[in-house]
Amino acid sequence: MKIPTIVEAEKLLNEAEQRNPGAWISHSKTAAFCAKAISERCDNLDVETAYVFGLLHDIGRREGVTDMRHIIDGYHFMTSLGFDDCARICLTHSFPYKDIRSYNGQNDCTGDETEFIKRFLDNTEYDDYDRMIQLCDALALPDGATYIEKRLVDVVMRRGFNDLTISKWKAFLELKVYFDKKTETDIYKLIGV
Ligand SMILES: [Fe+2]
Repeated sequence: MKIPTIVEAEKLLNEAEQRNPGAWISHSKTAAFCAKAISERCDNLDVETAYVFGLLHDIGRREGVTDMRHIIDGYHFMTSLGFDDCARICLTHSFPYKDIRSYNGQNDCTGDETEFIKRFLDNTEYDDYDRMIQLCDALALPDGATYIEKRLVDVVMRRGFNDLTISKWKAFLELKVYFDKKTETDIYKLIGV
């Protein structure tokens, strides 16, 4: 894997903040904190890689205030820098439930982009980094780590819900069980909530 260093990732996030400031910056830092705390207890995950993935999973928001677009913008941006594994996380982090219609919010991607995301998800078998960032995204409020349920409600209040929201919520709760088992503890203890 070719991954930006933590210093490089922080620089990319700082530049992105200049372009599009907002709560997503501190949300990204919280996700990185959670990724570090959980990956420290996982034998197969590199802590620095998990931290960098957390910092950069929403980097597509550098392009402005968008909805689903941020995942494809992040994918293209990280690919353009040669960081394909980070690009992958930009796309997979929004789909713990592997159905593009489960996205909470508007699909502001073009038809071709939507097809690309669908194909990408169909052809990708999630690994523990994908799962970890999907989980951490759901643990990260801008002002710190929180219970998944609180964050899920926060997202629905801001972006609405659809027929697949319950299935998506179940997928998030299964991710927590998965990482509780893997870390042999309650991950809430690891992230201090
Ligand atoms: Fe996020």
